[in-house]
Amino acid sequence: MTNNGRQPRGLAVLISGFGSNLQAIIDAIAAGELAARVNCVISDRPEARGLLRARRAGVPSRVVRPADYGDRAAFDAALARVIDAYDVDLIVLAGFMRILGADFISRYEGRIINIHPSLLPKYPGLDTHRRALENADTNHGASVHFVSGELDAGPVIIRESLQIDKHDTEDTLRERVHRLEHRILPRAIDWYLQGRLTVSGGEVLLDGGRQPDQGL
Ligand code: GRF
Repeated sequence: MTNNGRQPRGLAVLISGFGSNLQAIIDAIAAGELAARVNCVISDRPEARGLLRARRAGVPSRVVRPADYGDRAAFDAALARVIDAYDVDLIVLAGFMRILGADFISRYEGRIINIHPSLLPKYPGLDTHRRALENADTNHGASVHFVSGELDAGPVIIRESLQIDKHDTEDTLRERVHRLEHRILPRAIDWYLQGRLTVSGGEVLLDGGRQPDQGL
């Protein structure tokens, strides 16, 4: 038992690249802020830097490459086999750049969350920072949401917002939003694992109530 006596719960963290959100999870666990254990890191790309982070933290990691499977259904099935081989309470998509099929999502419904670099429902998909700048938005941010069949459209668990500065470029904005992501992802995982989240009418409630956005 760790973390004030709470039993750590098992995570599978799916990545495709740099893995700074994975690192934020690992760091929050090490700091005693998150009663969880990363039981497996899975990447669809063997060169993902996040795999090194997993290795450094002593976390088992696996690579499941789409090129090794005939179609998306076969890839998703392989992914599910890996996940099911570990003790996984929650699947965290942390920069996982593949779209998962409906069968996969319904198999783990309510047990998959994703971090997205925009204030959803604004800007699902790619290039969120560029789109926010092009539209001269004053605010931008990050969201953690439950994964549903529609891309970046499941019920939002937490959002954190920042003010766009007139000097912001796509790069500075990406970096600033990343810092928000690293705060809200471990927090959302913690809420989930403590059983504090419910979904009602497509909306996520924390301890039974609505919560305001962070950072406003
Ligand atoms: C993050 O911006 C996340 O919101 C998006 O992909 C990026 C992954 O970054 N889905 P990292 O690999 O965690 O550093």
